[in-house]
Amino acid sequence: MKKFLDLGYQPLANSYLTKKNINKKEKRFNLSVGFDSKSFLVSILNTVPKEKMFNKNYPYKSSESFTMRNQFKILSNKIKKKFNPGLILEIGSNDGAFISNFNKKSVIGVEPCKNLANLTIKKGFRIFPNYWNPTLAKKIAKKNKIDLIYSANTLSHIENLDEIFNAIDLALTENGILILEDPSLLECIKNVAYDQFYCEHLYVFSTIALERILSKFNLTIFSVENIKTHGGSNRYYIKRNNNFIYKIDSSVKKNVIKERNYGLHKISTYKSFSKKVIKSKKGLNKIFSDLDKKNKKIIGYGATAKSCTVLNYCKIQKRLIKFFYDTTSYKIGKYLPGSKIEIKKYKKLDIKNIDYVFLGAWNFKDEIFKKEKKFIQQGGKFITHIPHPKII
Ligand code: TMP
Repeated sequence: MKKFLDLGYQPLANSYLTKKNINKKEKRFNLSVGFDSKSFLVSILNTVPKEKMFNKNYPYKSSESFTMRNQFKILSNKIKKKFNPGLILEIGSNDGAFISNFNKKSVIGVEPCKNLANLTIKKGFRIFPNYWNPTLAKKIAKKNKIDLIYSANTLSHIENLDEIFNAIDLALTENGILILEDPSLLECIKNVAYDQFYCEHLYVFSTIALERILSKFNLTIFSVENIKTHGGSNRYYIKRNNNFIYKIDSSVKKNVIKERNYGLHKISTYKSFSKKVIKSKKGLNKIFSDLDKKNKKIIGYGATAKSCTVLNYCKIQKRLIKFFYDTTSYKIGKYLPGSKIEIKKYKKLDIKNIDYVFLGAWNFKDEIFKKEKKFIQQGGKFITHIPHPKII
């Protein structure tokens, strides 16, 4: 693994501070990112134990975003039509945004964050409040094997990929389908979205890297969809090598070629990305200091884990961003790790008391711009660092 990016000493991204512990010393770790020229995997170099990140205090709820709810609904209809699976399992079912589109008898959720698992258990879903691993897979498969396994934005959080795929192999029927969905490395590199890297995002996958991992488990990608969620993601449709029901379609080759043409198989691409990240930091700092000189009132929108990486890497403090608005109930009244910027309950933006808004949740830009139409019409401005620092 060759290191190509150093994002400094970062706190744990989703460890929001409370009024009580705001002055306590935060645990920090070095957030560096590397590339393995054999497996083509891009991953962070120092990992944090999973129990420290995924526990009963996990703040992120998929259901709270319209974009995510809508995406899951469309995908669920597609799955029913195309694959008509008898039994579905979701790895990382969060608060049930995906599984709630299915009949309770036909879905199983696996969710180690107990606060989220409990929400869906209460609604009558069959949820295992555990980490996905071979022991759990064996237990589930003893009763029934699974026709379709789905996992969105979860695989990138799990260190031991061999264990994950071993467990999938144990649970999936012979003609079963695996659908994986995670941020796309190509989009991340193209958009200089260095904030896709934080303690929970151990990996950002490319098609070429995933192909290599899957081949160890006799699994093949037969289709790739490029989707807009989380700033550009890939949805991979995967089958066993000996499943001849589904043909490998042209999207797989197209994505492989696109990634190779961009150089995702070469360390030089990542070195040049790293230079762009440094430039991005300088650009964002300049925007903030120029606006500060003009005494402009800046707030943040979407206290995301990603913004934690940006604020701490660029050393943007609470003097520059008065507070963040966020809709997630768990985050409200807390403070962002590291920068200690307060998170307030979301209110519609109003030009009367806000001049500029830093787009922490840039991955929901379309949804946010629609919601804040009035603010934009009034002349309100947003600051973003994606794909390069600018005011919009
Ligand atoms: P994510 O980028 O990790 O998915 O988190 C998105 C965060 O942004 C989440 O805390 C909710 C917040 N958010 C808002 O506050 N308002 C919005 O309109 C949207 C779409 C997200």
